[in-house]
Amino acid sequence: MFPATRMRRLRRTGLLRGLVRETELTPAHLVQPLFVRHGAEGREPIASLPGIDHLSISAAVQEAGEVAARGIPAVLLFGLPAAKDELGSGAWDDEGIVQLATRAIKAAHPDLLVICDLCLCEYTSHGHCGVLRDDGVVDNDATLELLARTAVSQAEAGADLVAPSDMMDGRVGALRAALDDHGLAETPIMAYSAKYASAFYGPFREAAGSAPRQGDRRGYQMDPANALEGVREAELDAAEGADVIMVKPALAYLDVIRRVKDATNLPVAAYNVSGEYAMVKAAAAAGLLDERAAVLEALTGIRRAGADIVITYHAKDAAEWLTA
Ligand code: PBG
Repeated sequence: MFPATRMRRLRRTGLLRGLVRETELTPAHLVQPLFVRHGAEGREPIASLPGIDHLSISAAVQEAGEVAARGIPAVLLFGLPAAKDELGSGAWDDEGIVQLATRAIKAAHPDLLVICDLCLCEYTSHGHCGVLRDDGVVDNDATLELLARTAVSQAEAGADLVAPSDMMDGRVGALRAALDDHGLAETPIMAYSAKYASAFYGPFREAAGSAPRQGDRRGYQMDPANALEGVREAELDAAEGADVIMVKPALAYLDVIRRVKDATNLPVAAYNVSGEYAMVKAAAAAGLLDERAAVLEALTGIRRAGADIVITYHAKDAAEWLTA
């Protein structure tokens, strides 16, 4: 009790604050997403994500090298295929954009982890995350087989982890079985378990060309109002064999990150998504926020909530600030 207890004593200097800091944020906790595309060599800025580029395979190899040089252990790959169709067959094409990029990055940077986002929405002509039935609803069970083929193709290309982001029921079990059947029992699954139907994916859908032509994703992604359901999703994925559980988005869902962390004994990843990134970039560009301070505070908050791994478009910048 005051005056004996004075909380300010340990806040007096940077050294004291460092000595008692509860949460650590280092480049080792971060994952950098990359967008790989067919076509012209080099990079092109993505209008909706200032500072992030569409990359050719050679540009992705170069970018991966920069990521690794900053002490970031992993990249998360998204692909923009040359063509799309009803089923999303580009997703499991052994010569598909993500498979080619994975091989090229692993050959050049064997010590960098390559995580492949696993979903059909970038590859389907209708933009949904699975196969459509005649009535326009995504057919859960028919989609599982296509996701399983994609997982095998990505793992055979050298993916260190596969990360299903489709939100079909039973997909972790289906992926685990298919990987094991193909001699890929050592490939871990990082499951987007509690993935919400969020407005904060807006800039990504422009970047990946994956906005649904019709309807929305609320029939398979979660209702933002539900936290207990997020824990159930995490527990189910854990039971089906997930190795890492993900919560997405991050900043409006810090309570879900904490609940999932407390309820499962698995490593937890959180995805600081495109809209969260774009908000900070826009505010900083308008002179309303100190970008560096805001980013490091947000990423520390995600770690404090319980995330072991933070996937963020800020990863490269943050790693530089953290080691400067
Ligand atoms: C694919 C996928 C999405 C994101 C990651 N994987 C888009 C979506 O579900 O609509 C969003 C990532 C971001 O916003 O940064 N299903």
